[in-house]
Amino acid sequence: MPELVAPTVKLHASWLEARDEWGHGVHQDGAGLHADTDVDSTEGFAEWVAMLMRQSDRSVQVAPDRVHASYWWMVEGDQYLGAISLRHELNDFLFDAGGHIGYGVRPSARGRGVATWAVAVVLDEARKLGLDRVLITCDDNNVASARTIERSGGVLEDVRTTTLGLTRRYWVTL
Ligand SMILES: CC(C)(COP(=O)(O)OP(=O)(O)OC[C@H]1O[C@@H](n2cnc3c(N)ncnc32)[C@H](O)[C@@H]1OP(=O)(O)O)[C@@H](O)C(=O)NCCC(=O)NCCS
Repeated sequence: MPELVAPTVKLHASWLEARDEWGHGVHQDGAGLHADTDVDSTEGFAEWVAMLMRQSDRSVQVAPDRVHASYWWMVEGDQYLGAISLRHELNDFLFDAGGHIGYGVRPSARGRGVATWAVAVVLDEARKLGLDRVLITCDDNNVASARTIERSGGVLEDVRTTTLGLTRRYWVTL
């Protein structure tokens, strides 16, 4: 059975195996990873994990163009499967294109319900934060993600051109 856990340095080795599946430098949706993040060294990985954890701490200010966000990792035993994030609120960019929730599953773990399960768990977390609806978006041609959102109760509001390209915007009522 998979579970969602807080990002942890204990999963460094498994995380690196997953990164190799995605490819070096490839964007991993929902992971909070930047192109210049040093994830290979023990120190760099620990710094990144700490930075992810700080983003959910509402007593710590975030940069003006950022919002607070919580990150979880999907794991099975000691195997890292993917990441999912919940932005606590929407700024203009998130309302238009990014949405509240982002997620990505390592290629070898796709197609067995992991993303659908993780979104359901995080919708509960959104409820606990006091949100009454969440926006989830995907590229217009991302069939797997659109299906994941629809399985999660997403109702399509529109398909619009955004800074991320042609974007499907769904609302889930909590
Ligand atoms: C999108 C993604 C997270 C889906 O993860 P997953 O764990 O494979 O998804 P699930 O197994 O929960 O499948 C969800 C639905 O999508 C369908 N699906 C999964 N992969 C599919 C594919 N390649 N083509 C078409 N449908 C697909 C499943 O059949 C399922 O629908 P169903 O319940 O009606 O059968 C995963 O493909 C991924 O990480 N992609 C790259 C990153 C990404 O696109 N993230 C989302 C950004 S918005």
